[in-house]
Amino acid sequence: MATEPLLPFEVLSSVAYLAQFASIRETPECYTHGAKVSSPTAGQIDVFVKYYVEGNRTTRGLVNEAIGHLLARACGLPVAPNAFVIDVSGQRLLEAHPTLRSSINAANSYPCWATSAVEGALANPHHALVIDTLRKWNLLPKMLAFDDWVANSDRTAGNIICTGKQKLTLIDHGHIGGSLFWMPDMLPTEGSFSSPVLPEIWPKSIPRTIASQMVESAAEHARVFGAMNARVRSILDFLCEDRLSRNAFEEFLGKRANGSYERIKKTHGVLI
Ligand SMILES: Nc1ncnc2c1ncn2[C@@H]1O[C@H](COP(=O)(O)OP(=O)(O)O)[C@@H](O)[C@H]1O
Ligand SMILES: [Mg+2]
Repeated sequence: MATEPLLPFEVLSSVAYLAQFASIRETPECYTHGAKVSSPTAGQIDVFVKYYVEGNRTTRGLVNEAIGHLLARACGLPVAPNAFVIDVSGQRLLEAHPTLRSSINAANSYPCWATSAVEGALANPHHALVIDTLRKWNLLPKMLAFDDWVANSDRTAGNIICTGKQKLTLIDHGHIGGSLFWMPDMLPTEGSFSSPVLPEIWPKSIPRTIASQMVESAAEHARVFGAMNARVRSILDFLCEDRLSRNAFEEFLGKRANGSYERIKKTHGVLI
């Protein structure tokens, strides 16, 4: 893989993978484990490696993760400081996840998404603690507006890491574009996208002050997208094979960014 200067993540070859440190989580679509890797800029670093299973359907895992991470950060939201696309040998993946035996080949290598292990993550955070922290978090309106912009269908408490009092970090942007398996003609360019975590924070309705702050934050999306467009394009060129999908995703993000202010204002009935 060649490195391209605008890419917002480092591209690491399979020799950069040093050792596995934990097997974390396996779902039918994605296998995640902890590993130590060697990066030219960050040195030896602990990361969480995500392998998106290539099945019958085209998974958008890598492209979604990379664009979600970039745009969340550009909006001023806390994400893992370092991000990588790393080629992991099939043998290493099998050591971490023996159940992949029937679907991957030990002799091949597979591109994976990796983010630096968030420091101070509580070992067993209570779901309720994340929800409680979110309710009082000053960046909550920004997060809700961002998830609406990129149509993130998977902002659950499990994808928010609590690292201390009033400290949260957002992970897992595999489901932006409405789904892990978006196709060019099904990207939701219109309509509001409500976060799955929202009813847990406020079962009835969002407080008016939060809704107004969401609208204020949404007003920034068009500018953020303008500033990040070239980087988004470079991620799409690098990770997305077909031209139709690349163009559709860029257009989807641009349209939703330009419509964010009006869309969120309308959804939450905010009069500004
Ligand atoms: N950067 C990170 N720092 C700390 N823990 C992480 C990080 N990335 C993933 N994890 C851990 O791995 C789990 C699965 O990661 P996630 O990205 O949510 O994958 P999945 O697609 O399986 O939901 C998380 O719940 C968390 O425990
Ligand atoms: Mg997750």
